[in-house]
Amino acid sequence: MHIKIKRGWELPESAATDEAFFRNRRRLAKTLAAGPLIAAGAGLGGGLLGPGRARAAADPTADLYPAARNARYTVERELTDESDATSYNNFYEFGSEKTIAGKAQALRTRPWTVQIDGLVEKEQTLDVDSLIRSMPLEERVYRFRCVEAWAMTVPWTGFPFAELVRRAAPLSAAKYIRMETLADEATMPGLRASWYPWPYTEGVTIEEATNELSLLVTGLYGKPVPPQNGAPLRLILPWKYGFKSIKSIVRFTFTDERPVSFWEELQGQEYGFWANVNPEVSHPRWSQATERLLTSRETVPTLLYNGYGEYVAELYKGLESEYGDRLFR
Ligand code: MTE
Repeated sequence: MHIKIKRGWELPESAATDEAFFRNRRRLAKTLAAGPLIAAGAGLGGGLLGPGRARAAADPTADLYPAARNARYTVERELTDESDATSYNNFYEFGSEKTIAGKAQALRTRPWTVQIDGLVEKEQTLDVDSLIRSMPLEERVYRFRCVEAWAMTVPWTGFPFAELVRRAAPLSAAKYIRMETLADEATMPGLRASWYPWPYTEGVTIEEATNELSLLVTGLYGKPVPPQNGAPLRLILPWKYGFKSIKSIVRFTFTDERPVSFWEELQGQEYGFWANVNPEVSHPRWSQATERLLTSRETVPTLLYNGYGEYVAELYKGLESEYGDRLFR
């Protein structure tokens, strides 16, 4: 049985983002900036609203930031304001609205372990701080394009996914990696929406994971990544629609079967496995030809593979005849 569920992020940006939202967002940004004071007053050490500086300083890996920027990955576009990137989010575990940043402060990001299992030489459970400290962190500025036709340009800090794959030592039979987000009913109110196939999962081929652009992100704007953006460890695949970039990862499973992701299970015709950005392949319900930039609110043309074709087009050579437009949805 297939149930059609309407989600906020299926709306085109013009419909989803009105003036009232932008006004509310500015108010939220102010509230978040006041967070450390509120948290200290409540004596909860960041348990209520503790983002920004106080939370960043409390992070056990705070000393690693800012990491050196890798000049190979910079873009012409202006950077999105930090206040926009951290207050306009999709993180359905905290609700389907964009303004989940306040609620997301409840995410318990420590202790945090990452499980590596499936078709690997040896299954492992890694403590996230040891993992982060053992990896070569660098900052990269990437374009990021949501399937809803909004986009941002932000400095992510992280390490190549290829390094984690190397650490995992996959068996030769492994072809894909399935990733899973934490599902904690105590802190994630969105999980009460029982029609969603929790936990949030995503999948990539091993070739995609080991492409040089695939980044496991631990930081944003020179600080540890805040909860609403997927602390303490998320993926960024800048040539794919944003839903592939799974947040707050707790598990990597190496497998020989193509994983079916959260959104693919719900609405496979609209949100598929490949989801590569292509301005010429419309979403079934809206055009992908242009995108609206957060902060400037300018509308600009969308680029094939979000402008990263020179790095990734090779990955899809020969797959066109098999998948056609499905490579871009
Ligand atoms: N990961 C999880 N676990 N849950 C989500 O709801 N939303 C996705 C992706 N990763 C999502 C997720 C979508 S639709 C987008 S566009 C990006 O996260 C948004 O990332 P941002 O909030 O850091 O901009």
